[in-house]
Amino acid sequence: MSSPLRLFELTDRVAVVTGASSGLGAAVAASLAELGARVALVARRADRLGALADRTGGIAVPCDLADPDQLDTVVPAVVEQLGPPVILINGAGNRLTTARAEDETAESVRQTLQLNLVAPFRLAQAVFPHMQQTGGSIVNVSSISGRVGVPGIPQASYAASKAGLSGLTAELAVQWARHSIRVNTVAPGFFRSEITDSLYDSDRGAEYLRRNTPLPVEASAEDVVGAITWLAGDAARYVTGQTVVVDGGWTAR
Ligand SMILES: NC(=O)c1ccc[n+]([C@@H]2O[C@H](COP(=O)([O-])OP(=O)(O)OC[C@H]3O[C@@H](n4cnc5c(N)ncnc54)[C@H](OP(=O)(O)O)[C@@H]3O)[C@@H](O)[C@H]2O)c1
Repeated sequence: MSSPLRLFELTDRVAVVTGASSGLGAAVAASLAELGARVALVARRADRLGALADRTGGIAVPCDLADPDQLDTVVPAVVEQLGPPVILINGAGNRLTTARAEDETAESVRQTLQLNLVAPFRLAQAVFPHMQQTGGSIVNVSSISGRVGVPGIPQASYAASKAGLSGLTAELAVQWARHSIRVNTVAPGFFRSEITDSLYDSDRGAEYLRRNTPLPVEASAEDVVGAITWLAGDAARYVTGQTVVVDGGWTAR
């Protein structure tokens, strides 16, 4: 048997990582690059993507994924500059409203679904003709709120979009398995990032997180990167259609 570490090598594989300008997406992009992948970094903040591309040897592909026309340009740009992708990490996502479910507007529901569910689906469709030739790995980033209700933090459309990713994942996995395209989802619990800093920084928020998270860890993006990196490469070559929960035990209670 060859070294188990070789299962994690990604030498010269072309990867597309959305949400790569900060938080989890940036950490995943750096991890894939460290393992040898050539990474296309996708998000809106071009300056941040450029800085990370300089450090990792990848390329920046600035794009507002909520805009369908811009989204359609992403994969062709990657193919032209790096070649056909064999890894897609759909990391971009956001909770766009703090409204309670009964008050969410139709427009806010649509925008949330567009960014968190439609964009990952469209990007998966865009990489399909390339991965059809070679096989590949698609990893979506969901949330525990796609699994369970989260008391005190209203997020109905966000939860619906993230749960949708798990359904999409199982269906694509089954449809595309014959092309050796694996499709999985990672569902993180809370970790510190730009979207959760204020929660971690308030005494009440920090206590809420401690009370609900069995493992005594203040999680960061680094605590979620391992699962995504594993699913991206050959170490997970027999894993498809799954939603892997990485939450310090939040949903195990
Ligand atoms: N932090 C948590 O506790 C937590 C828990 C569960 C799941 N998640 C999920 O984890 C993923 C990463 O979140 P994070 O916590 O690391 O937050 P983050 O640092 O705010 O990262 C979100 C990323 O998405 C990108 N993005 C947002 N809107 C975009 C748009 N319209 N077009 C293109 N890119 C867009 C942002 O880049 P630009 O602003 O530059 O566009 C940023 O790179 C998200 O899918 C989130 O839902 C987070």
